[in-house]
Amino acid sequence: MELLIGLCNVGLDVLFQRWRLRAVPDIHHVGGPMDDLTCIVTGPTSGIGRETAASLCRNRAVVVLACRNQVKGSQLKEELEQEAKQEGRAVPKLEVAQLDVASLTSIRSFASQWGQRPLHVLINNAGLFTIGGAHCRTPDGFEMHMGTNYLGAFLLSLLLLPNLQQGAQSQPRFGARLILTASKMHELVRQVDTLRPAAKAKPEGSLMAYNHSKLAQVQFAAELRRRLKPGSNVGVCACNPGEAVTGIMRGHFLERAYQLLLTPILITPTQAARCPVFCASSPLSQIGDIEAPEEAYWESNCKPAGRNHAVRDEAAGSRLWLWSAEATGLDAAHDLRRC
Ligand SMILES: NC(=O)c1ccc[n+]([C@@H]2O[C@H](COP(=O)([O-])OP(=O)(O)OC[C@H]3O[C@@H](n4cnc5c(N)ncnc54)[C@H](OP(=O)(O)O)[C@@H]3O)[C@@H](O)[C@H]2O)c1
Repeated sequence: MELLIGLCNVGLDVLFQRWRLRAVPDIHHVGGPMDDLTCIVTGPTSGIGRETAASLCRNRAVVVLACRNQVKGSQLKEELEQEAKQEGRAVPKLEVAQLDVASLTSIRSFASQWGQRPLHVLINNAGLFTIGGAHCRTPDGFEMHMGTNYLGAFLLSLLLLPNLQQGAQSQPRFGARLILTASKMHELVRQVDTLRPAAKAKPEGSLMAYNHSKLAQVQFAAELRRRLKPGSNVGVCACNPGEAVTGIMRGHFLERAYQLLLTPILITPTQAARCPVFCASSPLSQIGDIEAPEEAYWESNCKPAGRNHAVRDEAAGSRLWLWSAEATGLDAAHDLRRC
């Protein structure tokens, strides 16, 4: 029954999203200026991540393009510089860095190179959906969707949390932001099954594996809000960007069909970047009560979702946290409740 309701919700969202989002301003009018703010965008070389990074650039942030493929990263940097030139803007402040979020080693190396540098915005955008790929594993042995979309974002976020807290102190009016590009698809599962585990061994369908990873992102955002000290000024938001035609089917034999059939229905990557950009760059006063766990999940209309099972289930959030810390090898010092 719950699955049926979830399917109806997602189906209606897909069919009517263009109509539902008609009042959301275009990307040029979303968010605010970001002068002197440092942002990291993971997976900026395609789709929603590319448009998110481009928008933060236009808002004058220092944008670190955290890519698994540095050649693609350098090409993107040139493209964004070219766009700025054509639009008569100053040369954007862009950096390219190597990061494979499917590898815990790569994440640790990225965080250690980042060192003590303050950070204002971390956008965990990198992600994948692979049809028939649920049997694939990350280098650390996790199911590919869970390992890439969730565990990578979990570890990166916690390793960089001190930098975000430092950033928040240096910019008290803006604070800092930790964003996850989540998905409406998380509504198709009720609980992240860490016992099975969705993680290490047993293959499951790609769609379910993807949904579990997105539910984990949303529950993590709510749980992190519960664990952060009051007044930390770090806004944690899991954003549903909406359903967009992106590179997510790249290389698949159905790629062309996906583009032809869905382009008339779905939104563009630029439209899908609006919610993450809104949460990342708006003044603190516009992103709601950043300490309320129930406001951790944001809809594609740039508003916190009123009713969402994932953000309310404290027990599930706590279980997920402990499992994730153990899976990624974090020590107890990262269990913020015990700090
Ligand atoms: N499209 C939608 O309708 C939709 C809806 C809801 C949520 N989302 C979420 O939005 C995010 C972006 O997806 P998209 O639709 O824009 O897909 P996309 O066009 O395929 O972009 C995915 C990006 O993630 C990067 N990436 C993938 N695996 C990575 C890894 N292991 N390490 C580092 N980077 C990696 C890709 O890099 P390469 O260029 O090197 O492949 C690419 O830059 C994902 O988290 C997705 O789940 C998408």
